[in-house]
Amino acid sequence: MADAKKLYIKTYGCQMNVYDSERMAETLGGQGYVETKTPDDADMILLNTCHIREKAAEKIYSELGRYKGLKADKPDLKIGVAGCVAQAEGEEIMRRQPMVDLVVGPQSYHRLPAMEEAVAKGGKALDTDFPEEDKFEHLKSRPKAKRGPTAFLTVQEGCDKFCAFCVVPYTRGAEVSRPVERILTEARDLVERGVREITLLGQNVNAYHGAGPDGDMTLAQLIWALDEIDGLERIRFTTSHPNDMDDALIEAHGSCSKLMPYLHLPVQSGSDRILKAMNRKHTAQDYLRVIERIRAARPDILLSGDFIVGFPCETDQDFEDTMALVEAVEYGQAYSFKYSTRPGTPAAEKPQIDDGLATERLHRLQELLWTQQRCIQDNMVGREVSVLFEKPGRLAGQMGGKSEYLHAVHVDDAPVERGDIRKVKIVGSEKNSLRGAMI
Ligand code: SAH
Ligand code: SF4
Ligand code: F3S
Repeated sequence: MADAKKLYIKTYGCQMNVYDSERMAETLGGQGYVETKTPDDADMILLNTCHIREKAAEKIYSELGRYKGLKADKPDLKIGVAGCVAQAEGEEIMRRQPMVDLVVGPQSYHRLPAMEEAVAKGGKALDTDFPEEDKFEHLKSRPKAKRGPTAFLTVQEGCDKFCAFCVVPYTRGAEVSRPVERILTEARDLVERGVREITLLGQNVNAYHGAGPDGDMTLAQLIWALDEIDGLERIRFTTSHPNDMDDALIEAHGSCSKLMPYLHLPVQSGSDRILKAMNRKHTAQDYLRVIERIRAARPDILLSGDFIVGFPCETDQDFEDTMALVEAVEYGQAYSFKYSTRPGTPAAEKPQIDDGLATERLHRLQELLWTQQRCIQDNMVGREVSVLFEKPGRLAGQMGGKSEYLHAVHVDDAPVERGDIRKVKIVGSEKNSLRGAMI
């Protein structure tokens, strides 16, 4: 394809953006674009952006600034902004950076071909609607292109929970679940193309309630339906809300062998006062009870979470409550952030706490989370795990993949192919990964 135009997509933010970028690349493939790994030779640069914290949004403007030279050298270069900053800022982006040709919100990606045609003619295109139709149904897919062994699959999008700090309900819109049959069709197609592990995505994935043949189905029911697909070996899902962990989903962790023993269940804070101010609608005890039930169903499950420190009015005691909750749970993995003011969210109006104090708390929390993570990782040494091999490691002959607990594992001189799942004995624990030996 000598005359193919080149598309450079840079993805920020969560896994849903990774999935969306793949869909956008496929759909622009229909407009004659092939992907390139560098902005330098691109005909179109598309930034798929994240608005979750202030820094994430600011990064976009500085990144755009960097393309000024490229655009000056190549006036035909088209620059687009997609994702959550596009949704939140809309036209403001073109005002701040007039070289931007296209702004597209997360619910309008299926309209990209028409938008691309408009900018190809020298116009500008902006779409931040929340249309009724299922965008994924209208996104073209490149037929049967081979895939790696793992894939994301969005099953639910948007959020109706309105935590007081969070922009997601505004940028992704109301909670919508995709119908079961479409998900199963997409999953079967992924498996035919070489995928062995699917991670179901949603901002509140366990609130899933998509239309099935006999009425709405829950996430647990969807998982059991996916369980029947031959060749699909592993199922994961993220991100969950504690209030939507129903009995059937907890039970599936105990009985569905394809469902991996890893759960990302954000709590944000261990203080009931702060949880209330955050509008989380659960207490620390509620969360701990959910964890207890999950561990009863699947004792070896590895738990992961998200935390925010320095939320408005957080006292020393509130913070100590968070530390106590972390001590009680013991996380194998976690993300922690300093509260970041997001314009338009209720918490942005509240008196903010001292930044230095928030930083100090974040460091203490991260120290504790890191120690727990280390300890759980080190305790894997001597154990047998199963590894889905994904790619060659850094050294010759080495292959790397993920255990069922989502630990990165690498094996020297591994007689395996990409996509193989094998039993491995863990023989060492390194900084960010485990060393294994074939059994
Ligand atoms: N839907 C998921 C997470 C969405 S955002 C959930 O409900 O858990 C991912 C994480 O970013 C959140 O869990 C939270 O910890 C963090 N986050 C969201 N808004 C934030 C803000 N204003 N400041 C700091 N961290 C934030
Ligand atoms: Fe944001 Fe809360 Fe919704 Fe998660 S549940 S996406 S943190 S509003
Ligand atoms: Fe960021 Fe939007 Fe995801 S704000 S975290 S890209 S939903």
